Amino acid sequence: MKRDLISVHDLTRADLERYLTLAAHLDALSQAEKAKLLTGRVLGVLFYEPSTRTRLSFEAAICRLGGNPIGFAEATNASVAKGESLRDTARTVERYADAIVIRHPREGAARVVAEATRVPVINAGDGTNQHPSQTLLDLYTLQKFFGQLDGLKIALVGDLKYSRTVHSLVQALALYAGVDFTLVSPQTLRLPGHVREIGPVSRCAFRELETLQDALQTADVVYMTRVQKERFPDLLEYEKVKDAYCLNRAALEGARPQLKIMHPLPRVTEINADVDATPHAGYFEQVYNGLVMRQAILLDLLQVTP
Ligand code: CP
Repeated sequence: MKRDLISVHDLTRADLERYLTLAAHLDALSQAEKAKLLTGRVLGVLFYEPSTRTRLSFEAAICRLGGNPIGFAEATNASVAKGESLRDTARTVERYADAIVIRHPREGAARVVAEATRVPVINAGDGTNQHPSQTLLDLYTLQKFFGQLDGLKIALVGDLKYSRTVHSLVQALALYAGVDFTLVSPQTLRLPGHVREIGPVSRCAFRELETLQDALQTADVVYMTRVQKERFPDLLEYEKVKDAYCLNRAALEGARPQLKIMHPLPRVTEINADVDATPHAGYFEQVYNGLVMRQAILLDLLQVTP
């Protein structure tokens, strides 16, 4: 049976551990030891939404494993612009490629592609729904920072309503024991019921705050998110909350040395550049870990043993 990576809902804790173990193994190998693992493989990379990290890290992962990516970075360059359906595009690409990585603005789009094709499909973000490869790289980063995930104290800050990254991460961390969640958001951007009330998340306790300062004192990790202009149906609502949280170096004065600031990126105003040089900044380590974890995901789904 083919393997896909569509939603964190489909994963068990054992699955998460398998990805984390494989990523750590790949991280310890030299580039030369990994360079031929996907020789002769062609991977479809279809991005219907803008991306820097996810698309380029998947493409870099493919290239560094010896494979070849094909695809498009915007749908206007493909026959999608002529009206081709998602299913027809997917059924076409599966005849050229051994797996498909897809980002799409519509919730459920990656599942549609997975059900329409016989090759492994990776959801690289579907609307406000899920971003499972981001979650796996976030878990890997957290594990590298803290040694384990059980008992972690995490504050999730910003746009908790539309952030697929937050939705997937909460669902994954709910599979670990004793994770302490603090949610920091404006009233209008709170974590939605359809995330809070399903599966293991429904058994988690959440502390809710509107200001950031308390979370900086108590959390192991403060996970910042961008308020995503492109998700708001009403731009007046966006204007009201766009600058709700602006973390700078001064706000971190006196913070515990082990506090880490994470962010899936891109950022706009929510983390000032003066935080980058502090020992708390963890977001560019996430970027590197994304390359490693996406190599692990590709090898796992294609059932290649390094
Ligand atoms: N974190 C993330 O998904 O970044 P991109 O939108 O640049 O891919």
